Amino acid sequence: MSKDTVTLTDSASGKNVELPIVRGTMGPGVVDVRPLYASTSYFTYDPGYASTGSCKSAITYIDGDAGILLYRGYPIEQLAEKSTYLEVCYLLLHGELPTPQQMTDFETTIRRHTMVSESIRRFYDGFHYDAHPMAMMVATMGALSSFYHDSIDINDPQHRIISAHRLIAKMPTMASYAFKHSIGQPFLYPKNELSYCENFLHMMFSVPAEEYVPSPTFVRALELLLILHADHEQNASTSTVRLTGSSGANPFASIAAGIASLWGPSHGGANEAVIEMLEGIVESGQTIKEVIARAKDKDDSFRLMGFGHRVYKNYDPRAKIIRQMCHDLLKELNSENQPLFETAMELERVVLEDDFFIERKLYPNVDFYSGIIMKAMGIPTSMFTVMFALGRTVGWISHWKEMMEDPEMRIGRPRQIYTGHPRRDYPKTR
Ligand code: CMC
Repeated sequence: MSKDTVTLTDSASGKNVELPIVRGTMGPGVVDVRPLYASTSYFTYDPGYASTGSCKSAITYIDGDAGILLYRGYPIEQLAEKSTYLEVCYLLLHGELPTPQQMTDFETTIRRHTMVSESIRRFYDGFHYDAHPMAMMVATMGALSSFYHDSIDINDPQHRIISAHRLIAKMPTMASYAFKHSIGQPFLYPKNELSYCENFLHMMFSVPAEEYVPSPTFVRALELLLILHADHEQNASTSTVRLTGSSGANPFASIAAGIASLWGPSHGGANEAVIEMLEGIVESGQTIKEVIARAKDKDDSFRLMGFGHRVYKNYDPRAKIIRQMCHDLLKELNSENQPLFETAMELERVVLEDDFFIERKLYPNVDFYSGIIMKAMGIPTSMFTVMFALGRTVGWISHWKEMMEDPEMRIGRPRQIYTGHPRRDYPKTR
């Protein structure tokens, strides 16, 4: 790490304070403001954390201007082409690609943890028939905390890794239960002879009366979707997992908090909102021009869902891959979802030529095309954000584990600018 500094001058006192610049292996330097409060009694203000690095991390690197995304140094395009989701899970969790033996052992371990307790199954009976699957995911993930008293010591590295394995293995089972409950079908048990993605599709679409045999095209599309959603450094849900875990909360509780954060339409919930928007356009016969005019209107809260990103000021590299996948899949299936895809492509074309979006560097993000693929696979809209959560679980738990191993880890505790009433006395009479 370099020893550069920046000097801040307090114009009131004339005092200078030198702050070190910290540099990672890639990316811009970061001003280390930790000495600031002690030496000046000022702290920093950064709502939305657009200028704040909250931790050091060796997991994922994003260059938002260049549209680059690396997991542990490997470009997302190469992983999407050559890897499997479980191999990416191993990479994110452990830092290196597995040897063949490590991969076999990892797959075996994940397979052996796919079942959830029958008591968890009974939780779903308590949910209303039309409960949103994300509501069920938040609740049942929190409930998992109550099952593993013998292996939930957050200070024990072995317990941490067992928790990570349980989370990766049980998420597909829990996601499928949320879906089955919402359509009133019996729950399916996992089948350990199937691959991770085959097993998920089996639990989603088989019924006791009839086995569903997923097509290799769907299995590969799912692998790809999960790989692309596996991690994205310090986004809202991952930061939520870190903040929750920083108090010493157990990993299941921390990830329940992450799922809750992901649910919002500015984050993972956008994939659901994109399809609703595209279907709305197709069904209402609205023109693309009208939709774009609404998105640009400052008096209208409507935003083009699936466009814009806090970090990417260029085409989201995940969206590029998903767009191509969407194209190939719909062509192969001769899918009825073609009009949605064509509308999406036309919307993208017009947006990318429009000054409003060019000036603000608003490009399609990961959520713009992913819903069309999931729809073509038969996954209902209400499950889209659950699919995101399924892929992102490994990212959340990798960050939680990294944080727990970080000697600089402290409870996350931001400060504030107090704008309330100054001190006053309680009235003598009322
Ligand atoms: N449609 C229309 N205008 C937009 C959009 C959009 N989708 N996104 C940003 N803008 C405008 C915004 O009005 C603002 O304009 P102005 O400078 O004139 O006030 C400018 O662009 C900057 O927007 P911002 O809200 O300050 O940017 P942000 O970094 O805080 O928000 C975002 C990022 C992703 C929340 C936002 O772009 C958005 O709401 N997008 C739609 C929702 C979406 O697709 N979310 C998925 C994000 S990617 C996956 C994930 O993280 O889960």
